[in-house]
Amino acid sequence: MRIELTVNGERREADDVWEGESLLYALRERLGLPGSKNACEQGECGSCTVYMDGVPVCSCLVAAGQAQGREVTTVEGLAGDDGLDPVQQAFVECGAVQCGFCTPGFLVSTHDLLARNPSPSDPEIREALAGNLCRCTGYEKILDAVRAAASAGAQS
Ligand code: FES
Ligand code: FES
Repeated sequence: MRIELTVNGERREADDVWEGESLLYALRERLGLPGSKNACEQGECGSCTVYMDGVPVCSCLVAAGQAQGREVTTVEGLAGDDGLDPVQQAFVECGAVQCGFCTPGFLVSTHDLLARNPSPSDPEIREALAGNLCRCTGYEKILDAVRAAASAGAQS
C-alpha cells in the first residue's frame, strides 16, 4: 500500500508498505531517515522515539499505515535552519553521546519534556526519560545534558 504523511514538515509518500510494517522501518528504509534507531523493536528501549502529531511514540510499535495523514517529526527534524536544537547542542557539549544508539530517542523525549516543563527537577527528568535506555553512559552525562538544555532554555 501507499502511505502519505508529513515528515519533518514535508509531505512524503512511501510505496509498497506492507501490512504490519512499522513506522520505524518506513522512516529508515523507505524515507531515508536513519536517525531513529532500531535497538529492540519491542517498545522497550525508546531509541526509535519520534513525535506523531506532537506526541512522542515508539515508532517500532506504530504501524506505518497508522501514520497515514499524520505529522511525524524525527530527530532529524529537531534541528532548525540555525543549526542544532538546544537539546542536541547540550548532549554534544555534555558528552552525553557515546555509541549514540540511544541518543535520537533521548533527544526527542528530552525535547518533549522541556516543551512541557522547561525547568524539570531531577526526579521529573528521570521519570520523563524512564522509557529510554542507555547502555553506555551510566545516565549521569545525559542528566547533565538535560539540565544544561533546561538552563539554556531559561536563558534564551
Ligand atoms: S526500537 Fe522501538 S522501543 Fe526499542
Ligand atoms: S550512548 Fe550507547 S546506548 Fe546510550
